[in-house]
Amino acid sequence: MTTTTAEDFQYLQWFLFDRSAIVLAEEKQYLVESRLLPVVQRSGVDSITDLVRALRRGDRPTETAVIDAMTTNETSWFRDASPFDALRKVVLPDMIANNVTRRRLSIWSAACSTGQELYSVAMLLDAEFAEVASWKLDLLGTDISTSVVERARSGKFSALEINRGLPASNLVRYFTRDGAQFVIADALKSTTRFELFNLAKPWPPMQDHDLILLRNVLIYFDSTTKQRVLKAARSHLRPGGYLFLGTAETTRGLVEGFTAVPVAGTTVYRREEA
Ligand SMILES: C[S@@+](CC[C@H](N)C(=O)[O-])C[C@H]1O[C@@H](n2cnc3c(N)ncnc32)[C@H](O)[C@@H]1O
Repeated sequence: MTTTTAEDFQYLQWFLFDRSAIVLAEEKQYLVESRLLPVVQRSGVDSITDLVRALRRGDRPTETAVIDAMTTNETSWFRDASPFDALRKVVLPDMIANNVTRRRLSIWSAACSTGQELYSVAMLLDAEFAEVASWKLDLLGTDISTSVVERARSGKFSALEINRGLPASNLVRYFTRDGAQFVIADALKSTTRFELFNLAKPWPPMQDHDLILLRNVLIYFDSTTKQRVLKAARSHLRPGGYLFLGTAETTRGLVEGFTAVPVAGTTVYRREEA
């Protein structure tokens, strides 16, 4: 049987919210079926009910597979263009000026999906900010989904993925071909690291960042989770550090301590000093 019963749907809503804080709206039953039927097939079980049974008994591989399938991993290179203009024209020059003595930059793509966002920043730094080539760069990408973190780490992309926003000059400069795959250059890949990280659970201690990209993930959370995540992001930014959100996301009405700054056709959020 391939349809989702009301009871299974309710359990999946609870499971997803409990593990990831993602809110699965009532009308998203179709999404459960389109995302979970491939998992049913791969797992060799007969139905979504069987998957739910495995979740209920705490089967870890099924939990991972369901989280992976239910997260929306939509991304692209230099996504939305204007945040990258803001980085190029104002934010990176400012961050570099502020770190001239320390000679280090820490940048975190906090819901990185398959890595295009972080690799785009790495390309921008490499191509246009030669002065940081000898600095200690910490470019971290994290996500809750195991499969996207593995893909980001692999640095391998399909032609379809490459066609989504990657300038031809960057393709030539930063990729080699391996059959149907395009492989990111080791020199660029080695400046990045990708880890699992659940934004919805208490954050482990980590160093403060100069820039956090928290783009197109708050949209999946309720207000309480958005507030909690934004507060945590604030406390993991250096004073004067920058937060980038997706175009449909804001700090307004959710958290204090950020100044919204219009830059290059977008809004960036700056951690206030105090
Ligand atoms: C739409 S993608 C955004 C990717 C990239 N930031 C961008 O804007 O192109 C959203 C990502 O958020 C991740 N995500 C969802 N819930 C999460 C959570 N609780 N903790 C960490 N990542 C999460 C998903 O796995 C997915 O890869």
